Amino acid sequence: MTDAKKKLFIKTYGCQMNVYDSERMAETLGAQGYEQTEDQSEADMVLLNTCHIREKAAEKLYSDLGRLKPLKAEKPDLKIGVAGCVAQAEGEEIVRRMPIVDLVVGPQSYHRLPQMEAQVQTGVRALDTDFPQDDKFEVMKARPKAKRGPTAFLTVQEGCDKFCAFCVVPYTRGAEVSRPAERIVAEAQGLVEAGVREITLLGQNVNAYHGDAEGLAGLCAKLVKIDGLERIRYTTSHPNDMDDALIAAHGDEPKLMPYLHLPVQSGSDKILKAMNRKHTAEDYLRIIERIRAARPDILLSSDFIVGFPGETDDDFEQTMQLIDAVGYGAAYSFKYSARPGTPAAEKEDVAQDVMDERLQRLQALVTTQQHATQEAMVGREVSVLFEKPGREPGQWGGKSEYLHAVHVEAEGALRGQIRKVRITSAARNSLAGELVEK
Ligand code: SAH
Ligand code: SF4
Ligand code: F3S
Repeated sequence: MTDAKKKLFIKTYGCQMNVYDSERMAETLGAQGYEQTEDQSEADMVLLNTCHIREKAAEKLYSDLGRLKPLKAEKPDLKIGVAGCVAQAEGEEIVRRMPIVDLVVGPQSYHRLPQMEAQVQTGVRALDTDFPQDDKFEVMKARPKAKRGPTAFLTVQEGCDKFCAFCVVPYTRGAEVSRPAERIVAEAQGLVEAGVREITLLGQNVNAYHGDAEGLAGLCAKLVKIDGLERIRYTTSHPNDMDDALIAAHGDEPKLMPYLHLPVQSGSDKILKAMNRKHTAEDYLRIIERIRAARPDILLSSDFIVGFPGETDDDFEQTMQLIDAVGYGAAYSFKYSARPGTPAAEKEDVAQDVMDERLQRLQALVTTQQHATQEAMVGREVSVLFEKPGREPGQWGGKSEYLHAVHVEAEGALRGQIRKVRITSAARNSLAGELVEK
């Protein structure tokens, strides 16, 4: 007789890399007899995979831990683990302040979860926030062959050497490390065999990838040869790492999707310099020009920070002008949050109400651009990779090559199919269309 499987509940905060890490941690613990559950109350282990990027993100951990106290009181055998970037940054403090936490594992150590899990089962708490020499991807077991949905993330590069003045990532994820190209190709092959048709390559600075002699463009050139892999995306890129080969690939490689997230943060050269971004607004605009020359229909998105220390009204207006000049398909914007340990940390000096006002204006402008981009799709034919049934019965939903959510009326299941769709109307956050061939 085999034991009943133990149940694992994972909550993921933060970026796509955390989503990927959560999957890998679930697989690793799967080999230890855990199966995932969506219901926290039936869990034998709760794992919180955390984000440290802004203060609000980090605070969520402590409020979630507070909410877990009654569950732990009810179920003393429940194990509680903290993973991800808060674990890395504040691991020892978490262990000290939070007696309900059994296990703390940093992003570079989760291949050690099996030993750590065994340790907590003996009643001894476990903390591992090293940056170990061994490569976690090599130590972990091969990924299970179970059937998967049509899209997947694949981490190709981790860490960051850029040290933007506001950012914790170089401290929580460590130095830039690229996985060898052949390992990535093998993992991609496995994903495709399991049903995946679109892969998003992940890295904190994905286009600084150097696990292939030809960089990220070289890796993409290898991946496009995989039969059945139809679409490749990558995120997040740094403007300074958009090399000629990668820009050219956007023109030459049909499997590389025409959507690019290229964060600029600010349109003011003074602020860019203070942020240590190492490029000017003009440099960024020239890069965009070259990308658009290679692939005129590409949709662009960016991240922006408002209220960085020293940002004047004039600096902010320059950011608005840059947004005007580029015309984004989407953008993510944040109020500056001073983070412990970063060079800018001590300086939060733009008043909250000023930040609020700037954020609102910036978001209004971006929303206008986003809607214009969506409206411009009406009447056009796009290709959609269908992922799941839509909200209404008889609907199917997926993403266009431009990453727009699209839904159609369709009889029968479309999951995993890539179909031509004519866009008929644009709503706030999605497009409606009809299959060109039924
Ligand atoms: N590697 C990516 C971004 C990682 S963090 C890049 O280089 O662009 C994602 C976004 O969070 C950043 O682009 C930035 O806009 C925002 N961010 C990072 N640190 C922040 C901070 N201290 N306060 C506010 N926003 C921040
Ligand atoms: Fe952070 Fe800058 Fe590195 Fe992006 S490039 S992860 S913003 S330090
Ligand atoms: Fe957050 Fe860490 Fe990602 S700080 S954004 S989870 S790299």
